[in-house]
Amino acid sequence: MVDRRIRRAGNELRHCAGSPHSLLTRLESLACERVRRPALSEPPPPSPSFPINHLRCAPVARRKLIVVSNRGPVTFGRDGDGQRVALRGGGGLTTALRSLVLHHEVRWIASAISAEDRLVAEEASGESIHERARDGSAYRLHLVAHDEQAYDRFYNVIANPTLWFLQHYLWPLAVAPSLDRGLHHAWRDGYVAVNRAFADAVLAELEHEPDATVFFHDYHLYLAPRLVRESRPDTALAHFVHIPWPQPDVWRVLPDEIRRAIHDGLLANDVVGFHTARWRSNFLRGSEDLLGAAVDHGRGTVDHRGREVLVTSHPISVDPHEFDELATSEAVLAAEQRLLARRPEKLLLRVDRTDPSKNIVRGFRAFELYLDAHPEMQERVVMLALLDPSRQEIPEYAEYLGAIQRSARAVNERFERGTWRPIDLQIRDDFAGTVAAYKQFDVLLVNAVFDGLNLVAKEAALVNERDGVLILSENAGVHEELSPWALSVNPFDVAGQADALHRALTLPAEERRTRLVAAADHVRRHDLEAWIEAQLSDFDRKAVRGRRG
Ligand code: ADP
Ligand code: G6P
Repeated sequence: MVDRRIRRAGNELRHCAGSPHSLLTRLESLACERVRRPALSEPPPPSPSFPINHLRCAPVARRKLIVVSNRGPVTFGRDGDGQRVALRGGGGLTTALRSLVLHHEVRWIASAISAEDRLVAEEASGESIHERARDGSAYRLHLVAHDEQAYDRFYNVIANPTLWFLQHYLWPLAVAPSLDRGLHHAWRDGYVAVNRAFADAVLAELEHEPDATVFFHDYHLYLAPRLVRESRPDTALAHFVHIPWPQPDVWRVLPDEIRRAIHDGLLANDVVGFHTARWRSNFLRGSEDLLGAAVDHGRGTVDHRGREVLVTSHPISVDPHEFDELATSEAVLAAEQRLLARRPEKLLLRVDRTDPSKNIVRGFRAFELYLDAHPEMQERVVMLALLDPSRQEIPEYAEYLGAIQRSARAVNERFERGTWRPIDLQIRDDFAGTVAAYKQFDVLLVNAVFDGLNLVAKEAALVNERDGVLILSENAGVHEELSPWALSVNPFDVAGQADALHRALTLPAEERRTRLVAAADHVRRHDLEAWIEAQLSDFDRKAVRGRRG
């Protein structure tokens, strides 16, 4: 799949290891030239001195961390000249976590996903390699080349069509899922096998750094903590789940052995973190209901297998300085010019991966209802949908992308007049275009069925220059934080969403301004660094309690 990303990435190199000049971020690399990679055995060239405003506040003590996630911070490919290049890993998780390496001594373990990643892993012979982050910070990257069939079962059968679907409440239970022998097989020979390989990689890295804290991420790795714990009972383990945690009964869709293994695996950590109090509380209840663990809901602790696990919630965030710089970068300004040349009077925006959880089709239907109800706005308003194609090897995702295209076409065919097309559908990975659109929207629609957090809402609030209004699904984690300044919608109620579009477009100017300023201010005060610090202080809290017995 990442091979496809690399093919289309072209001029969108998101990361240039060892790049000497750029300050920060993905976008530096939109403009940067492809770089020749040093031989793997050599450390990358020392980073030159340049201003790094991330260092403005580095209050957290530097720690040794072993970060573990399926998708790594970079993925490798080849450019037109056959040179190895590093591209930014996609999705919200790696966007957010890449900043960890700026402040801590990080060994990052991730799957080798592209063919070039596998080559890098082979050349490294199971060891980690030196890498440099966007600001020149050094870290080590350990790519795990899984058995290809096992990885296919892990990613394309269990992690996405099963766990992601279950955790986002995406199944119509009368007809799906049907858990056949293939599912059991994929669990055993895919999910368990890949988690075993991750656990082995963690144990290998612990040989180099026995005192490091291991920080697992997301739904790909629920079993690895237990496997590590069995070999290293005293190692500090933490896990952050970036997606929703549903109510216990939803987990009962999965066979007992599987749902128990998932909860038991997570409870091998010392700390388990979620974005919101809602997901955290569901996990505490699930641990009680499905495992019979002793839960203290007030303290947020679970007693399981003779150990106490701390369960916390801290919403992840973005780096505001990164976005301030992106907003005035050359690539974004150029994209903004292109957008301004065709800008309608009112711009509605949505920015998502083409994931069924993002509820894109219902969003188009809501816009259709809005246009029906407000003919005076026809030819004056456009919904720009910037959509990053995602997980297209999985039939449900390929079908959903088709449904998105069909529904946009239906609305356009019904309403378009002259040069005006109500839905401007752009299906590509285009980060510069995304930031340009963040600056220019009048209304941002986030109507996810369920979403662990939704970084788009935070990114957009930070850089918008038109006192844009946020419409947020009450089932997106970010709603817990930003709802005081947003318009809330029920993601299933398309009529309600149509009304919200109208309300957002007619709010008094002063009110729009007050809401946006407050939302942006909240994101600035609760930034990525604050999130990292909160994670680590949970960990310290847990360690102190542990010492007290
Ligand atoms: P998820 O993690 O489920 O993908 P988030 O909203 O938390 O959802 O994060 C999505 C990330 O992907 C954001 O950083 C956003 O800027 C980026 N993104 C989303 N759509 C696009 C697109 N069409 N092109 C480039 N980047 C995108
Ligand atoms: C979400 C998940 C991440 C995942 C990302 C992109 O953000 O929480 O774990 O990496 O989507 O999905 P992909 O399947 O392309 O890695």
